[in-house]
Amino acid sequence: MDLPEIPGLSAEEGAGGLTKLVVDLPSCRGELYLHGAQVTEWTPAGHEPVLWLSPQAVFAEAHAIRGGVPICFPWFGSGPDGDLSPAHGLARTGPWVFAGAQRHGDTVRITLQLTRDGVADRAGANHWTSDFRATYTVEFGSSLTMTLDVDPADPPTQSALHTYLRVGDVRQVAVTGLDHHHFFDQLTGETRTHHGTVTFTGETDRIYHHTNEVRLSDPVLGRQVRIAKSGSPHTVVWNPWIDKARQLADVPDDAWLEFVCLESANLSQTLRMCTSISVDSLK
Ligand code: BG6
Repeated sequence: MDLPEIPGLSAEEGAGGLTKLVVDLPSCRGELYLHGAQVTEWTPAGHEPVLWLSPQAVFAEAHAIRGGVPICFPWFGSGPDGDLSPAHGLARTGPWVFAGAQRHGDTVRITLQLTRDGVADRAGANHWTSDFRATYTVEFGSSLTMTLDVDPADPPTQSALHTYLRVGDVRQVAVTGLDHHHFFDQLTGETRTHHGTVTFTGETDRIYHHTNEVRLSDPVLGRQVRIAKSGSPHTVVWNPWIDKARQLADVPDDAWLEFVCLESANLSQTLRMCTSISVDSLK
């Protein structure tokens, strides 16, 4: 990799021998694996890590890393008609290529790219039917901003930035911003309207029709995480709870308490989708 000399940015051998880019700035510390273009750490100055990374995450070419921000692309789940695999597409296990980095003040911006050629030998590659390119830009600073661009826009693709947020106790957090929004409940197949804040009392797997900011209040960690977004008409809210967590080999049995996924998504047509995470202490 031809990494330019930028103070606060280095390339290192990460877990499983995979290459990671490490950002160490006065504003934050962060890590980005080329495998899956996966952000695995963002710790803004004065705060604890904002992202959850499973202690049992598998770092290997064939596996998606459990935690951080996996990219679901070019389809979400099993795709619009429910017949595609692997789950959540090919990008999260794809060999993304370094395409540039710059430093602006106390921010480092890194760009990675993935093309169909990069995943040609993967199971499911026959579903990546067009020669489009995905470009992913991650800006590490006092906020974390991730932008996925798809060129050209045809055929339609789906995407989600599957953000695992670390929480003190998922039973005590509250998500605001989804009041009065319709959601599709992936567990029951029903579409309903949500009223009030979202709290967690069991397995939760919902796709909200929602374009605005969501906020996660965490009284245990004493902070509020804000997720702003653009180009994203859907927000996915997921926590596996007890039984589903036990079925996930790369999630410790009691780790369902420690994270919630709030995913900016576009399940209709991705052109450019951006999500920006910031964190404030609760007074
Ligand atoms: C969420 C989906 O985005 O990802 C859930 O809504 C799914 O249905 C979850 O279980 C985790 O998926 P995976 O493939 O990473 O285990």
